[in-house]
This record gives sequence, C-alpha cells and structure tokens, in this order.
Amino acid sequence: MRIVHTVADLRQALAGARHPAVVPTMGNLHAGHLALVRAAKPLGDTTVATIFVNRLQFGAGEDFERYPRTLERDCAQLEAAGCDLVFAPSELELYPQVQSFTVQPDPALADLLEGQFRPGFFTGVCTVVLKLLACTQARTAVFGKKDYQQLLVIRHMVRQFALPVDVIGLDTQRETDGLAMSSRNGYLSPAQRAQAGLLARVLAACAQAVRGGETDFAKLENQALHSLRAAGWMPDYVAIRCQSDLRPAQADVPLVVLGAARLGSTRLIDNLEI
Ligand code: PAF
Repeated sequence: MRIVHTVADLRQALAGARHPAVVPTMGNLHAGHLALVRAAKPLGDTTVATIFVNRLQFGAGEDFERYPRTLERDCAQLEAAGCDLVFAPSELELYPQVQSFTVQPDPALADLLEGQFRPGFFTGVCTVVLKLLACTQARTAVFGKKDYQQLLVIRHMVRQFALPVDVIGLDTQRETDGLAMSSRNGYLSPAQRAQAGLLARVLAACAQAVRGGETDFAKLENQALHSLRAAGWMPDYVAIRCQSDLRPAQADVPLVVLGAARLGSTRLIDNLEI
C-alpha cells in the first residue's frame, strides 16, 4: 500500500488505474470504515482511501481541533483491509488558497435535519468530496449509510454535476448493543458508552411501530424524543422521513427514521431504513 500526501504524487500513483474506487474518510478509522474499504475493493481496479479532517464542514464550537488524527494507526488498518493507496493531504495541500469556490447544495435537501443544526455542514462536505473525487479520479465512491443525509446530498451533487462516479451506500456497522460505529464514539466516557445504544433502540422502536401500521409519525417522534430526554440525552431531532429525499413521511413510500442527540458533549447520529 502506498501513502501519498500531495495531489501530484496521487496522480502519479494512479497513472495506470482505470477505475479507482474511493473511500473518503476523516481518519480515526474503525471497523465501519474498513467495511467500506472491503466493499470498495471488488468495485474498481485500485482501492483508494482518503484521510482528511475537513475544516470546512465543522462549525464554530464543533470538534475540529480535537478530532483525533491517527494517521499511522489508520494506515496499518487500511493496509490490512486491502487498501492499495492512501491519500492523506495536509490542509495546505488541499486548500492552498482560501477555498472561494464552494458547492451550495439544494437547500430543500441540505437545510433540514443535520443542515438545520449544523449550518454550512453540507457545503463543506460537498466541496471537499467534489475535490477529493476530482483528485482521485474516482469512478466509484463508497460512503456509509450512517450519514444518511450526507449520502443523499452527495448522490444529488454527483447527478447534478454529471460526475462519472457510481456512489455506493453501505449499511451502517454496529456494535453489539446496536450503537452505530462512529469515530465520535471514542469521545464517550465508559458510563456514557454503556447507555449509548439507546439512540439505536429508540429509532428501532419507531421503525417497528411504523412497520406495524402506525401512521401517527409525530406521536412516534415525540415518544422517541421523550425517551431520550428521560435518559439524560439532549436530542436535536428524531424524524420519520421519505428515504428518497427526506421530505416528511407519507404512506406507501419507503421511509427512514433519523435521529441526532447529544450525550454529554458528544453528538451522535443514527438512522434506520424502515
Ligand atoms: O463522512 C465523513 O467522514 C466526511 O463527511 C467525508 C465524507 C469524508 C467528507 O469530509
């Protein structure tokens, strides 16, 4: 496995590749990321992981500074997972000047849920993903469904810019208590970790009720918010939405229940397709 830090070296390393399959990450990798890499492997001739903590997608007061940078350990794990090439640029390499051109995603998709609580987040994500796809000349890009809205926004961007990239979404990898794997789980204290599976459980209860025929979605959302608050969480939202575009839930279309909540100072997100 090769590790490169500049766009020039990346281009050189990819000179013979016809179909790079790319897994964009911010590093601090866990088994969920490695599942993305293993999924990417048969989808291209060169498996590329990118590692870049993207300042543009962090808001004021968020965890940009303390986001763990663990390049050496990440690379060892990527190599074991069969990755061929790692692109880990510095900030100066990826943003040599202030990034004045940015991608403004459709507010109808990007200004709700995560976008409502993290203004500018999807502009930052789309801008860096567009740049990473351009740098790696990706033909396939694999993302986790844990960031469900992110996946939809990226698919939308790829379609609207006619990028020659297949966007693949991979099911969320979970711990044994249901907690969705996330780099931010590492922020949890042992006591918080012991109750962190609750978010997945309340979403599962919503999903089960909908599957059982419940159509009072607001009631289910409120019950879920109440369960989280009663256990000391500070939820931002629990929302039952249409899978295709996250508009409010309607009968007879595939739905997804999404949630975001803070446990102490750690903000966790999760979702379940229904
Ligand atoms: O999901 C992530 O880790 C990030 O949002 C991504 C897609 C790597 C862009 O920085």
